Amino acid sequence: MILARTLRDAGSFLFKMREDKRSVGLVPTMGALHRGHLSLIECCNSENAATVVSIFVNPTQFNDPKDLKNYPRNLERDISMLRESGCDMLFVPGIKTIYPRPDLRIFDFGGLERRMEGQFRPGHFNGVAQVVSRLFDIIKPDRAYFGKKDIQQLAIIRKLTAMLNSNVEIRACETLREDDGLAMSSRNVLLSAGERENAAIINRTLREAVRKKGMEVCELKQWVADVINNNPFLELEYFEIVGSSDLQPVNHWAGTEDELVACIAVRAGRIRLIDNVFFSNFASL
Ligand code: PAF
Repeated sequence: MILARTLRDAGSFLFKMREDKRSVGLVPTMGALHRGHLSLIECCNSENAATVVSIFVNPTQFNDPKDLKNYPRNLERDISMLRESGCDMLFVPGIKTIYPRPDLRIFDFGGLERRMEGQFRPGHFNGVAQVVSRLFDIIKPDRAYFGKKDIQQLAIIRKLTAMLNSNVEIRACETLREDDGLAMSSRNVLLSAGERENAAIINRTLREAVRKKGMEVCELKQWVADVINNNPFLELEYFEIVGSSDLQPVNHWAGTEDELVACIAVRAGRIRLIDNVFFSNFASL
């Protein structure tokens, strides 16, 4: 595995790949890797001649400086995990490589960037769009891999590629879960033992909510809010039922042709956790 820290290091590997007409897949990450990332890498390995993983904790997507400061970082461990993963090049750029000058671009995603996550993390998706477009410019991958846990990020990145007329194919991979259902996330290591144990309730509640389809949407929202907020370790930020393609909130079941997804964000102490489940996956269980 090649470790590239500069444009020059990355450039020589990428030049060779393009010269040999070999496809390149990119898995963008902020490090603190877990099995969820490894499954993105596996998917990337199976579809491309070479896999590039980037690790960059992107400051422009953090609206809360404390969250940026506390974001878990463990490059040595990440490198040893990646050596075993089939990653061909690890790109670990410095801030000046990604942002040689301040990125002043403001993206308009038609309101999608202001709903759900956007309400609680103003500016977050603008920062994600800045870094992802920059990584696409540098790596010029054929395909890029993102997890379905961050479903709104996925929708934003799909819109971004359309807006930029980019040829990068966006591939969505399934959410990986711990044994008790908690969606894997780099932030899980920051939970206290009590928070971690109770965080399992998030996915369980989502799945139960999906099975309760038929109850009025507003009653279902209230039910979810009560279950989460009655737990002393958890606090609900939002629970929305949205169409999977446009992520528009649904307030009535009737007339919804798009596949529906239940999306949730919960605070466990200082840590925000998000998750979602597709109705088609769980409605009949
Ligand atoms: O999902 C993430 O880890 C980040 O938002 C991403 C896509 C790597 C951009 O910094």
